[in-house]
Amino acid sequence: MAACTEMVSAKGLFYSTANTMRLLQTSAEDQPLVVQLYGNEPEIMSRAVYQLCSMGFAYFDLNCGCSVNKVVKTGSGAALLKNPRLLLEMVSAMTQHAGAGRVGVKMRLGWSNQEIVYLYLAKPLADAGAGWITLHPRTAVQQFTGRARHQALQELKTVSSIPVVASGDLFTARDALQCVQSTGVDTVMFARGALMDPAVGMRYQHLLQGRRDLPSNRDFVLRLCREAIDVYRRYSTTRAVLKLRSLLPRMMRGLPGAKELRKRIILCKEWQDLEEVMTSAQRHPETQ
Ligand SMILES: Cc1cc2nc3c(=O)[nH]c(=O)nc-3n(C[C@H](O)[C@H](O)[C@H](O)COP(=O)(O)O)c2cc1C
Repeated sequence: MAACTEMVSAKGLFYSTANTMRLLQTSAEDQPLVVQLYGNEPEIMSRAVYQLCSMGFAYFDLNCGCSVNKVVKTGSGAALLKNPRLLLEMVSAMTQHAGAGRVGVKMRLGWSNQEIVYLYLAKPLADAGAGWITLHPRTAVQQFTGRARHQALQELKTVSSIPVVASGDLFTARDALQCVQSTGVDTVMFARGALMDPAVGMRYQHLLQGRRDLPSNRDFVLRLCREAIDVYRRYSTTRAVLKLRSLLPRMMRGLPGAKELRKRIILCKEWQDLEEVMTSAQRHPETQ
């Protein structure tokens, strides 16, 4: 299973901005790692991949799915779906340095219902050296509304000579297994499901191997929260406490006492504050 970094701007990399370099921070636990890039200039993208290869990164993904205005107004992200020729040039520019099979494309069905391109792109993407296609089967115009059209995943899998990864409304490991079995796709990418349950990938592996699901009880979830805090603490500054203030309550949702824990977590400012909340939650489950 591959992990993804946050989306990185090819241009930001070109100018080595501090923010871009921060997004590229990684550790051994992240392997195997795919760096996702966004941009709209093949030349800049080519240089970005060259630079990343020289830094030791080996796998890349082109973002053609982001529908956030800030990104699409520059012609990047899902806007590339409106310009398939440029999209393919971007992929060729990336494979030039990364090598064939080391670049994936993350896309939606098309820009709108009137501009559906996912089936049309399958062959040219493989010809351009792409190694896999991840499809979030909604249009860019749809953003996150409606339901992901899983039928489209099956259609893409039928015409694609390269692996297809499913994304969209896969909130649990069971959703993912059901999607793989019904559409024939090669694997899945979790997004919102992983924000609520970072163990969702592990759970999926368990189910895939015919093993029993991992527990979802309070002890297990609090242990996961602890691990999340430890990882953030090891690799980040106190700024990460703010991120954990929104992440931890999401992970704890549905547990007995979750509301009270949330009230305490959102007031945390320092690592020590989080430590105290977690220690008391683990010591006194009956009072939470
Ligand atoms: C908070 C958030 C951040 C996301 N960031 C990215 C991103 O950087 N790159 C990307 O390709 N997709 C990104 N996505 C889209 C997801 O990869 C995924 O395609 C989409 O959320 C649908 O899957 P889901 O229904 O399982 O969440 C993001 C989604 C969310 C909710």
